[in-house]
Amino acid sequence: MSLPVDAPCFLGPYGENDTLLEKLVVEFLRDHVYWRRNVHPEDPPAIATDAATTPAYREFEARMRRELHSLSAALKRSVPFHSPRYIGHMVSDLLLPGLAAQFLALPYNPNNVSYDAAPVTIDLEIKAGLQLARMFGYVDDPARPDCAFGHLTSGGTLANLQGLRLTLATKAFPVALRAIAPPGLGLPDDDWAAFNLRPADAIGLLDRWNAWLAAQAPADRRRWRKAFATARLEHLGLHAFLERHPTLGTPRVLAPVTAHYSWSKGMKMLGLGRAQLELVPERGMRIDVDALEERLAGHLARREPVLMAVGVFGGTEFGTIDPIDALVDARERWATRGLGFAVHVDAAWGGYLATLFREANGALRPLDALREEFQDFPSPGVHAAVGALARADSITVDPHKLGYLPYGAGAFLCRDQRAMALLAEDADYVFSAREDGDYFQRFRQLGRFIPEGSKPGAAAAAVYVTHRVLPLDHGNFGALPRESIRATEAFRTAAARFAARVEGWLGCRLPFEPDSNLVCLALNPAGNTDVATMNRFVRALHASLSHDPTLPVQSREFYGSMTTLRPELLGPEETARVMASLGLDPATLDAGGEEDDRLVVLRHTLMNPFLLDATNGINYLEAYFDYLGRRAGDLLARAATGAAA
Ligand SMILES: Cc1ncc(COP(=O)(O)O)c(C=O)c1O
Repeated sequence: MSLPVDAPCFLGPYGENDTLLEKLVVEFLRDHVYWRRNVHPEDPPAIATDAATTPAYREFEARMRRELHSLSAALKRSVPFHSPRYIGHMVSDLLLPGLAAQFLALPYNPNNVSYDAAPVTIDLEIKAGLQLARMFGYVDDPARPDCAFGHLTSGGTLANLQGLRLTLATKAFPVALRAIAPPGLGLPDDDWAAFNLRPADAIGLLDRWNAWLAAQAPADRRRWRKAFATARLEHLGLHAFLERHPTLGTPRVLAPVTAHYSWSKGMKMLGLGRAQLELVPERGMRIDVDALEERLAGHLARREPVLMAVGVFGGTEFGTIDPIDALVDARERWATRGLGFAVHVDAAWGGYLATLFREANGALRPLDALREEFQDFPSPGVHAAVGALARADSITVDPHKLGYLPYGAGAFLCRDQRAMALLAEDADYVFSAREDGDYFQRFRQLGRFIPEGSKPGAAAAAVYVTHRVLPLDHGNFGALPRESIRATEAFRTAAARFAARVEGWLGCRLPFEPDSNLVCLALNPAGNTDVATMNRFVRALHASLSHDPTLPVQSREFYGSMTTLRPELLGPEETARVMASLGLDPATLDAGGEEDDRLVVLRHTLMNPFLLDATNGINYLEAYFDYLGRRAGDLLARAATGAAA
């Protein structure tokens, strides 16, 4: 079964499903109130039943109403993310099950820091982690010791930080173990080898250490545990740890040049330093595996440790997908040579595309079956990348992006939950359970493991309920990315038609073939060879596609976003190719003027489910190109008049 997007999945661009949402909200609000009253029905109302008649009450209500009305009025200046005319950033309409679950849970105000504060929603968060784990092909059976684990975060930024934190802990603890030298564990021979264990082997060592500890008498166990804790990097800090282990240097992180800026933030926050974030060149906006190999060889030769290689599954600016399969293969190969590192996949944007690739039983769908649904998606490379996600050590995915859920819902997943114990923080007043409980008992003390403390249980409820209503396989949730990829195909068809239509006066090119549903468009007035002139033209076009809160929301026909192609990221060959396709003179690039060191392009996120409105026979993408043509024509006409005047 393929779910139609006109089912009550969304509130809808026109608010089509408002009655349903209103009914649900009222129903569950009443339900909540009954619950309040019935906690101790013998307790009388603490707010006097005639309080509403007092002047103070009425004055308060009036003030509240005034403020709420003014908030409501101000919010009308918001960006209309729900509209099929919005094809700017990574946001769209919200899924109704998630929205309703969030409304429902909000008045209970669960705090997913711990089971005590969120006895219901904390389990939903753990289960949501398992739902996402299954989507990526990770082990999702909590009875298995190597089951994956996932939790929500405020967004992709924090999930990436958690990836760094967990990897650092997993790589550094074997060094600490060597320092205290418990007998009979088969520890690596030296610090370099200890830091360079394959992530899976490090988890095996952690398992052996825990089993060994469990076999010790309680007093000895406490003594060993304490010795271990005080030898760890997390206790000593990076500087003191490296001083004690001088054969190790500050570890590097290798990421593609277009990686999201959250990686830079994470390096700074962990004290690893931005200088250790090494940006690897790309080919066609996908990480260049040869360049990565070259860097790894250099690091091994100079004995410089590498923490992780980051693969991006759906790039922020161009929607491209790195060859995750090549990254995990490289991890295995280099580990045998003595350079162990983890692979983290930043699938903040593209993660939910994986639903298209999953059967209901969790199996990966064959490439042929997928390709029957699309013109040319997915490429064999993208299919291989999806198949390799299950081999990544950890993954970031954002329910608040392609999961169509409200903000405040990112997610971090690790392939093997056992590693999480390395992040555990103790606080006796909040956390009571120890490591020996089952999967749920352990992770119910969520605040021990995550960067945050208090966090919204309502967000977890939204994610969990949505995944229950729309299971993460191609027949259910997959209907949404399917629609999105089809819209991308329609966009490309419309772009090709537009390019042919405007050929005589405007150059229109797709600088990169996208792997997913994010498409950039380069536009240059015909005959123009100057980079700065083209950039000014595209920026002016973008100005009419960007939200202006000082104008009525109706004043924009369409919303888009923009980005730039930077030669230092693109590399000389790709830069030359894109410039030639636009008729630009290479001498005008970085010629010393303003605005000429990069190429400004329009960027489109094609995730709105109603871009191809079958009900009314409207193709909003064709309409967008008509608008773009009109705007471009107006701009050029105005420039020509200006020039003549
Ligand atoms: C690839 C990628 N990673 C990480 C992030 C950061 O996510 P957030 O803004 O939710 O923190 C983004 C945001 O656009 C992204 O595209």
